[in-house]
Amino acid sequence: MARFLLHRPLLLLAAISVAIVASLARPAAAVRPFVLVLSVDDFLKDSSAHPSLPSADSAGADADADEWDDFADDSPGADPLLSPSSWVPLLDPASSPPSGDEPDSPADSLFVAGARAMLSAASEGDDAAFITAAAQIEAAATAGHPGAQSALAFLSGAGMTRPASRSRAFLLHKFAADAGDLQSKMAIAYSYFRQEMYEEAVTLYAELAEAALTSSLISKEPPVIEPIRLHSGTEENKEALRKSRGEDDEDFQITEYQAQRGNAGAMYKLGLLYYYGLRGLRRDYRKAFHWFSKAVEKGDTRAMEVLGEIYARGAGVERNYTEAYKWLALAAKQPHYSAYNGLGYLYVKGYGVEKKNLTKAREYFKLAADNKEAGGHYNLGVLYLKGIGVKRDIIEACNHLLQAVNAGQPKAIYQVAKLFQKGIGLKRNLHMATMLYKSVAERGPWSSLSRWALESYLKGDLGKALLLYSRMADLGYEVAQSNAAWILDRYGDQSICMGESGFCTDMERHLRSHALWWQASEQGNEHAALLIGDAYYYGRGVARDYERAAEAYMHAQSQSNAQAMFNLGYMHEHGHGLPLDLHLAKRYYDQAVAVDSAAKLPVMLALTSLWLRKNYADSFLVRFIDSLPEIYPVVEEWVEDVLMDEGNATILTLFACLVTVLYLRERQRRQVAAANPQQPDGAPM
Ligand SMILES: *[C@@H]1O[C@H](CO)[C@@H](O)[C@H](O)[C@H]1NC(C)=O
Ligand SMILES: *[C@@H]1O[C@H](CO)[C@@H](O)[C@H](O)[C@H]1NC(C)=O
Ligand SMILES: *[C@@H]1O[C@H](CO)[C@@H](O)[C@H](O)[C@H]1NC(C)=O
Repeated sequence: MARFLLHRPLLLLAAISVAIVASLARPAAAVRPFVLVLSVDDFLKDSSAHPSLPSADSAGADADADEWDDFADDSPGADPLLSPSSWVPLLDPASSPPSGDEPDSPADSLFVAGARAMLSAASEGDDAAFITAAAQIEAAATAGHPGAQSALAFLSGAGMTRPASRSRAFLLHKFAADAGDLQSKMAIAYSYFRQEMYEEAVTLYAELAEAALTSSLISKEPPVIEPIRLHSGTEENKEALRKSRGEDDEDFQITEYQAQRGNAGAMYKLGLLYYYGLRGLRRDYRKAFHWFSKAVEKGDTRAMEVLGEIYARGAGVERNYTEAYKWLALAAKQPHYSAYNGLGYLYVKGYGVEKKNLTKAREYFKLAADNKEAGGHYNLGVLYLKGIGVKRDIIEACNHLLQAVNAGQPKAIYQVAKLFQKGIGLKRNLHMATMLYKSVAERGPWSSLSRWALESYLKGDLGKALLLYSRMADLGYEVAQSNAAWILDRYGDQSICMGESGFCTDMERHLRSHALWWQASEQGNEHAALLIGDAYYYGRGVARDYERAAEAYMHAQSQSNAQAMFNLGYMHEHGHGLPLDLHLAKRYYDQAVAVDSAAKLPVMLALTSLWLRKNYADSFLVRFIDSLPEIYPVVEEWVEDVLMDEGNATILTLFACLVTVLYLRERQRRQVAAANPQQPDGAPM
């Protein structure tokens, strides 16, 4: 079951021979793209009836304007990558240390020294040094250093160099969070979220989401930069990794070469890579500005809009709204409709234009929205929500915001989360609000750890990569949970996993990767649930336990995973961990096909065997099928050696014929032997 030898036709052959393997060649299990689907029930029938909302045309419409003020100045001066207790300064020698109130308190230097030592011990696989470093961190934590408390909480929670204790971890995170540590707030919010304590989780995530958004932009949203998934199924995700090598990547070098030769498109592309810090590059506003300016000179009009934004934000240049207006207006003439968002913004604020004009702003936002620019919907949503230059209209606001949400706009996700949290326009739904806030909060500056984790991984520094991904896992990042688990499973036998005392025992390692897969699976990674099911089913790393396997497959199945459905069907058919129930087995097999048409063949074969089992229990063939798992490895090997290259449906059919012939022979033999022959009625199915 679930052997994950992907893309091999021979698997289907194996499936027929044992009616056991359903390895559906699906693309790497991925968490489904986020789409918010609301039904009529989610909307309040009469929003003006809500107590917390002043009626649309009342003078109080601006009462909570500050709270909704989305057009406030942002502070581009602050480097969004730095937050008080971030590990980034430890990782990046180029970045300056965070400027705390007391930059050089003894606890501070103790923490910095301890954390540095811990990271290098992880790189070098030196368990003794790691233990010493952890002791230093503990000393700093005892002295009340929030960053150290947060790091110690992480070590305690995972059971690294000290006994695993979730309660101690929670307590330490709480201390750190109360002292303002945002990483620990993430960890605590996630912990509440897992326990479905949404009242508590929603408040924290709201605060974190807001912090995450302070670094966001005016008109153009940065492309979503999610942590890279190291693996695809059980294999390394080579394609994604290749594209993340920053300046070492060949594609990047080609682009740079073309840009240097005067290719405007390449210049623009290079500008974007630096501006957003994509593909493993460090964000570099100066280089971005340089390339965008050159691209405009060479006639690439797309760069005009970004130049406008750069001047409006003062990113890498001195802020100048006059220049911003000039470039945005030029871009809008092209037309690049998203530039109308920037123009609208300038008119809302009255920057760089003769005077504030809300009518004009709304016209520009509408122009952008009508031309499929999600940013336009977002801005219109905010105007209607707050009644800026328009009559306040919550329904209209919701409609615009939801369109922006489904285009993945973090600011819109934040606003809709707020509507759910407060029950304005939408029915109060804390679970939903929490999830939405969480997705925004995870874009906060702390997400930059994933860059360092990936960089370490690409350099072959698995110890550091594992440590950093594990830290992010603690903060609730699903991809980091999967990545850490995958590294543990794949490379855990090397000395990279720290246990309670020294390197992990096999048991510790399995338990840890198990816990990580489980968390990832709770967060919707169906592939993770399947791996857990397999671990129990085959007794890999844990005692074989069919019931828990079934539980895990159920979990994956509830996320519409065809393979899990198949496996459940199989377990019902054979009474492994689930009641022997042929009807239910068939239901699961049918479901598997409905979800994934690639499951058709294995399911057909499984159904054949099911049919035989129902109608000819105890027949030769059923016993034959049941005895196959023992010879299965042999068959697989043979198939791999001999048939790999040409294995396809033809061979499969031949094999099916062979089995059928065997079966018919056996039946004939029995019919002759028996005085009272059985009349089979028709072919299977
Ligand atoms: C902004 O740019 C304009 C023209 O591009 C220039 O005249 C003005 O002095 C600049 N403002 C500042 C504050 O640099
Ligand atoms: C604002 O813009 C609109 C349309 O673009 C225009 O008709 C109106 O006169 C402007 N209002 C002011 C006060 O300038
Ligand atoms: C399967 O293999 C046979 C010969 O090996 C070939 O003739 C046939 O086209 C193949 N079919 C598919 C669907 O690839």
